[in-house]
Amino acid sequence: MVIPSLIECKRDGGALPPGTWAAIVRAYAAEEIPDYQMAALLMAVVWRGLSAAELTELTGAMLDSGSRLDFDGWAVPRVDKHSTGGVGDKTSLLLAPMLACCGGAVPMMSGRGLGHTGGTLDKLESIPGFTTQLTLSAAEAQVRRLGCALFGQTPEIAPVDRRLYALRDVTGTVPSVPLIAASIMSKKLAEGLDALVLDVKAGSGAFLADEKDALALARTMIGLGEASGVRTVALVTAMDRPLGRACGNALEVEECILALRGEGPPDLMAVTLALGEEMLLAAGLETDRGAARGRLVESVQSGAALRRLADVIEAQEGNPAVVDDPALLPQAPQRAVYTAPAAGIVAAVRPRAVGQGIIALGGGRRRMEDAVQHAVGFVITARPGDVVEAGQPIATIHARDAEGLEAGATALREAILIGSGPAAPRQLVSHRVTADGVEAIAP
Ligand code: URA
Repeated sequence: MVIPSLIECKRDGGALPPGTWAAIVRAYAAEEIPDYQMAALLMAVVWRGLSAAELTELTGAMLDSGSRLDFDGWAVPRVDKHSTGGVGDKTSLLLAPMLACCGGAVPMMSGRGLGHTGGTLDKLESIPGFTTQLTLSAAEAQVRRLGCALFGQTPEIAPVDRRLYALRDVTGTVPSVPLIAASIMSKKLAEGLDALVLDVKAGSGAFLADEKDALALARTMIGLGEASGVRTVALVTAMDRPLGRACGNALEVEECILALRGEGPPDLMAVTLALGEEMLLAAGLETDRGAARGRLVESVQSGAALRRLADVIEAQEGNPAVVDDPALLPQAPQRAVYTAPAAGIVAAVRPRAVGQGIIALGGGRRRMEDAVQHAVGFVITARPGDVVEAGQPIATIHARDAEGLEAGATALREAILIGSGPAAPRQLVSHRVTADGVEAIAP
């Protein structure tokens, strides 16, 4: 295999011959291809795409680079949800325990922050002691016992995706329908699922901002899932503003604990319930949408989902007392209220600027090896369309030091736009996509 020729072939818009992507993945796994050549190849894919046959082969090879969870013979339906990435996007922490309380089994394997977006693993690791590094057999045993496990890719599962994900994060090669689809589906197909619900983000804070691209990504992933016998459904949801109020690892965990106490922000709960309904229906745990919603709401109102989260935290070596006292989560030493610089109507809360602001505060990564400061971030109470007075508090900055507070304020000035006309945010859940087609959801 002459890698420069393959890079040139993709650069010039060609398709690699059958067997080539599988060979590339094997060679990369064996560290026979250096990261700089892989990055060039990925960049060529960002520009030129992959044929359907190339994508199927790449996804299969990434999946086969590791092992799979094995639930064969177990009657409980396995179902998971995966998001294409956003800011304040914390529904995984709610859905795993909620679905487990509704009779599903959720082997939720997640990723770290990517680009300006947050990652479930980084959020979970803000819980004191919590380990996301489960072996496959430990994850499997926990799913059978508690109905869910929240874990990261071990060297056993799609290890090539783990390396590619980190490489893409720092080489500008994330926004690509085939690369995102192969990355997500190689992990998800290793989970031994019956059903998968994809939260495909659209809007300025999504990797693929354009609705057309979001729908193409949804259809591509559904094609890969269904071809592997996994019932796959996607919802297109809004990422033109952060989801919920908290943005930053420990702050988001705290918001999830409050949400499981019944005090979640309305937008977070609307998206969580919409995804949860799809999970219950796709897994065959419910046939009626209203009844599915009722069971999810009951799992929160009864306190069962919060208790389940505490059990999962304990099983994964974290301090379960955080669910009763979120102040046990890491706390930023410096806080400052951010106020509206002018009177008017909030025109936008730009998620990309918020995500970049979290990175500037140390809550995300600039390089693969960077450590994450879990306590830092923002709580943004202003929503697009809100009428605000000059000087009104609209956010809080959580930082390590005075310099961080300054960086946070700079990010919020860039993120929160105040205008005079009405705002036009995206509909929170705009489309439902299945193998049968695309359904626009009524506002
Ligand atoms: N989430 C993933 O797992 N992979 C991507 O490429 C993007 C979002």
